[in-house]
Amino acid sequence: MDIDVVEAPPGGVEADVLVFTVPDPVTLSKAAEGLDRLVEGRLSRLVENGELRGDEGRVTLLHADGRLAAQRAAGVGVGERELDADRLRTAAAAAACETVDVGGTTMAWVVEPDGPLSPSVQARAIVDGTVLGPYEAARWKTSAEPSVQIERLVLCGPGAAGVAGEAERANVAAAWANRCRDLVNAPANELTPERLGDWAEEIAGGSPSLRFEALGPDEIRAAGMGAFGAVSQGSDNPPRLITLAYEPETPARPELRIGLVGKAITFDAGGLSLKPAYHMDEMKSDMGGGGAVLAATGAIAELGLPVRILTVVPSCENLPGGHSYRPGDIVTALSGKTIEITNTDAEGRLILADALWFARESGATHLLDLATLTGGIVVAMGDLYAGLFGNDDAWVAEIEEAAEASGDHAWRLPLHERYHRYNDSAFADLKNSSDYKQASPILAAAFLEQFAGEGPWAHLDIAGTAYLERGRGDYYSDLGATGYGVRLLAELARRL
Ligand code: BES
Ligand code: MN
Ligand code: ZN
Repeated sequence: MDIDVVEAPPGGVEADVLVFTVPDPVTLSKAAEGLDRLVEGRLSRLVENGELRGDEGRVTLLHADGRLAAQRAAGVGVGERELDADRLRTAAAAAACETVDVGGTTMAWVVEPDGPLSPSVQARAIVDGTVLGPYEAARWKTSAEPSVQIERLVLCGPGAAGVAGEAERANVAAAWANRCRDLVNAPANELTPERLGDWAEEIAGGSPSLRFEALGPDEIRAAGMGAFGAVSQGSDNPPRLITLAYEPETPARPELRIGLVGKAITFDAGGLSLKPAYHMDEMKSDMGGGGAVLAATGAIAELGLPVRILTVVPSCENLPGGHSYRPGDIVTALSGKTIEITNTDAEGRLILADALWFARESGATHLLDLATLTGGIVVAMGDLYAGLFGNDDAWVAEIEEAAEASGDHAWRLPLHERYHRYNDSAFADLKNSSDYKQASPILAAAFLEQFAGEGPWAHLDIAGTAYLERGRGDYYSDLGATGYGVRLLAELARRL
């Protein structure tokens, strides 16, 4: 999508649809009053008739018939409470979907110069909603029309001064979030670990600052990754340890190297500890963490952010079969620690154990992993907030701030040494799942902590946020992948 910023009055801006926000109860902002004068009171008439309304996400169209440079004006409702960024994202998504629906490809948006949200926060939210809202997941329908997106967004009015940089950054991040959604929605018969590696290689081909590498099954074993190797051995599709190294020409802090680690189980059947059939299809999304860190690395490279990144994605399938690892098996992780397998469905922490250790050994100073790790986090937080854990308050605080600013929400949960006893095994250093049936997201995080080595580490459990069972009633109005984490990581990298 192209973005233009025009400080001139909105009435002169050419577009298929020119959008302004409408609160509930309805009042016309100064900008909207200006438009009303140009259309000779037609907007006030819609207000008087009760047709122009402020309910969240409601769009009211008016043909301008030459009175505006735009074809149509559209009021989009933002609801009763004081406007926040999420509600503006939702309104932008609704307006973008409506624009696409009437065959439009250019949307203009009046940025309010004063009000509860700063112009740059408005610009980011408008871009997020416009790019993420019309996303189409039904790519495999033979009847599917080629997906239509907004091609040009014009942010206009005096409020738009100085928002170009923020808007363009948001545009790049949201476009990569949609690429991540394509990966996560892709079925496991298409998106194998090998194909995910090819995708990462293609990204690297697009930037001289990115270097791609991938290890196959024999190299993974030879390197000593016994935990990752064990999970992957049940499938005929070979595993990949995918790495992307991003080295900007002039890093702002050369001593800093962020290690982004993402779980990429392309299908999680549970292994011999087989999952129930109900909703098992959704386990094609168990690579959402890996998809997010790879796509975010693409975004960061495209933006040319001056921060060094090492992205590590262990990818395999978790299937039952004659070659599968078994409950009771004891494996040796790359760190040297031994792990008793008590449930083959707790596979994410095993592949991450080796990937985290590998990232640390390869020189990452600050680790952050993203993983669709536990059903428990879905129970606790639902589809809106990811669970955030970490061993370093300053590092966790940076991630919390980036999360809030980006719209990818996260909320911190505790770690405490007392939890570790539930991961103790009678036979090995650790076991991968506990008979203690409580606090599963915390026990999983406590397990990962053992493999994070020395230095700051944080973990986002994105099992509830990466893939929606149903629309969320906001700018994600349909089921399927959200691209959770891509906007968060791009924002984090920008702040470092
Ligand atoms: N991939 C699942 C977690 C998951 C559940 C993601 C629901 C998305 C939606 C993970 O590998 C898993 O199976 N976790 C188990 C761990 C348990 C066996 C200790 C869980 O949370 O039930
Ligand atoms: Mn599992
Ligand atoms: Zn899993």
